Amino acid sequence: MLFEQVCIVGLGLIGASLAQAIRDRQLAAKLVAVDRHAPSIKSAIEAGVIDKGSDSLFEVVAGSDCIILAVPVKAVGAVFADINSAMQQGLITTACLISDVSSTKQNVVDAAQKAFGQLPTGFVPAHPIAGAEQSGFHARRSDLFVNHSLIVCELKSTTPKAIAQISQLWQSVGATVMKMDVAHHDAVLAYTSHLPHLLAFNLVEQLADHDDNMDIFRYAAGGFRDFTRIAASDPVMWHDIFIANKPALLNALDEYSQYLAKLRRLIQDEDSTQLLGLLGRAQSARKHFGHMLTGTPYTKNLTEISNTKTNTENSMATSTHASSAYIITPSSTINGTIAVPGDKSISHRSIMFGSLAEGVTRVSGFLEGEDALATLQAFRDMGVTIEGPENGNVVIHGVGINGLKPSRTPLYMGNSGTTMRLLSGILAAQSFDSVLTGDASLSKRPMERVAKPLREMGATLQTTGERGTAPISITGSDKRGSKLHGITYDMPVASAQVKSCLILAGLWAEGKTTVIQPEISRDHTERMLSAFGYDVEVEGNTISVEGGGKLTACDIAVPADISSAAFFMVAASIAKDSQITITQVGMNPTRTGIIDILKLMGADISLSNETFVGGEPVADITIKSAQLKGITIPEALVPLAIDEFPVLFVAASCAQGQTVLTGAKELRVKESDRIAVMADGLTQLGVDCTVTEDGIIIEGKGDGQSHQAVFGGGEIYSHHDHRIAMSFSVASLRATDTITIQGVETVNTSFPGFAELANKIGMNLATRQG
Ligand code: S3P
Repeated sequence: MLFEQVCIVGLGLIGASLAQAIRDRQLAAKLVAVDRHAPSIKSAIEAGVIDKGSDSLFEVVAGSDCIILAVPVKAVGAVFADINSAMQQGLITTACLISDVSSTKQNVVDAAQKAFGQLPTGFVPAHPIAGAEQSGFHARRSDLFVNHSLIVCELKSTTPKAIAQISQLWQSVGATVMKMDVAHHDAVLAYTSHLPHLLAFNLVEQLADHDDNMDIFRYAAGGFRDFTRIAASDPVMWHDIFIANKPALLNALDEYSQYLAKLRRLIQDEDSTQLLGLLGRAQSARKHFGHMLTGTPYTKNLTEISNTKTNTENSMATSTHASSAYIITPSSTINGTIAVPGDKSISHRSIMFGSLAEGVTRVSGFLEGEDALATLQAFRDMGVTIEGPENGNVVIHGVGINGLKPSRTPLYMGNSGTTMRLLSGILAAQSFDSVLTGDASLSKRPMERVAKPLREMGATLQTTGERGTAPISITGSDKRGSKLHGITYDMPVASAQVKSCLILAGLWAEGKTTVIQPEISRDHTERMLSAFGYDVEVEGNTISVEGGGKLTACDIAVPADISSAAFFMVAASIAKDSQITITQVGMNPTRTGIIDILKLMGADISLSNETFVGGEPVADITIKSAQLKGITIPEALVPLAIDEFPVLFVAASCAQGQTVLTGAKELRVKESDRIAVMADGLTQLGVDCTVTEDGIIIEGKGDGQSHQAVFGGGEIYSHHDHRIAMSFSVASLRATDTITIQGVETVNTSFPGFAELANKIGMNLATRQG
């Protein structure tokens, strides 16, 4: 029990739902209510929701230790006056908790001030962001507040205990409590609730005023109906809210008028680039904010995220998110010719360079996966007009090397390390400030590896997470007062992301930026810069750029991603009587480590149709079943196959003899600690392996002559890592039992359509949505 006696004033939808929730959860020993409408009181007593009720506060309030006002905004003043009298009469103590549920807060505080003279110490203004189109006692729902936000306004006059008690009450009925000051609350609600309601009423009024209004309404399509749904709400209530929140609402309305005028101008001038930019930004922002606030991937349907059915003041941040799983029944043979999606690394860079170039860049084969979409969104947020993606086609209206604008909100990179690290380089060199955030997995990955050398170039940036991790806060050169300068940086790890970050920052730096890598890493940045007409000097492992040049738009054809092809290369090698051809896969020599390693293990791989697409070599890869043998993986091949090790571990488990990997410490800081997470999963499926500091030793269970099962069944956790999820799917080709892989939504970061493709060639993957 939280309270001795709760008194609810007003048994409308919110008051009655709260009463029911308190009763169902037994949060108060006694529950009483006040309502001017006698039938509501009668029904509430009959339904057993309250113990006692009246139309007068004085008849029921005695002994209450908590009073909640759930009356229209205009009526709160009169109720406060009654509560004050009840205190003076000694019916309740002066420490009694007093709270409300009103949509506006300043006017409630003003009314309390007026009624009490001095604000009571138990007074806590609050606002549940929940509602429904129905109203009244009979529409009540005990679960109305579950997974919805509750805003508490902390006043100086209120005791911390009172705030804690009201917070506990709302948490106990399922709400998530957030704190906000009064002015901020009113401003936020003016934008997110009051302005949209006002516009809905206004549009219906505008159309109703037309002489031919019957025709207009008769032919009104879904858009009008959806947009004006909320104009069916109670006019008196909205009248009161608009007046009560007048200053904040007028402010929001003035700003709205400016935006409308801008839109009008763009249409008047037929300024397609700007108009498309504005509409595209708005469309993606609608999705983006939902995903950002819930920390979910982009491809998760927004309707699943926002509970739109009953919620009129819906916040996009209110729902919880369960994880999806693959349930894979063993299969033994796969066959077919397939195409895998576009290369992730190249897709990222096509958006970055296209945005910074002068002119229009057309990209085909773009990977419509979460990671590359995060890059696309970031550049939209910085004012770049980007059309698409549609069937892999993207059109980027470049803004030139100095044309980016500051984003109004933190840039959200989802799960994508490449976006965060490469953008750090670009943004460290801009005149404006930026903040970069990511999901739970990205927020654990090391960012000092880019922050440190960028600081040496003169940048000001902070990794504000717990251990040199995101969010990254970057100060622009306008505030810092100086440009970046070129440095020579000896990279401690062979990381294409670090290399690319510094080369990109070097485009704006004074003088020459030189990066020396300990081993070769993927060179897409160098290749694409050249394609965009920017001079890059490459001498062995040393790469240099001079700052101050420009990029010229060009067309980019993105080849298929060899990192995605890798799953099917291993699949066909370990499965019985199998043959798979994967068409037009990128064969950049800095990416083909997977082919070299598999060949050393005895895989049967051949290439055909070798050609060039957009400056990158491509080929069809054909892989046939083979008897693999364990090897010691040459360290020089590690950076060239860095993303393919999870699936190579599956190959090693099916091989005859031991496979030893060293020099692969980097695997510990990918989307997950890929050594530890793979070792756990392999052990779970019955394979012996030993984790070392910089690698792993796997005891292959192959017999060198058959394709007998080497894995058992079991449950695997992906740890938000797409490549872990896909690798263990491949293991099902040599498993005795069902493998369930939990947390597979991140597969969409790099390989949308993976499950469908796997099933097409003969695997057996069912997806259970979370
Ligand atoms: C990438 C580089 C690699 C790779 C990542 C993509 C890139 O990371 O693992 O998936 O596009 O530059 P590191 O450079 O940090 O090894």
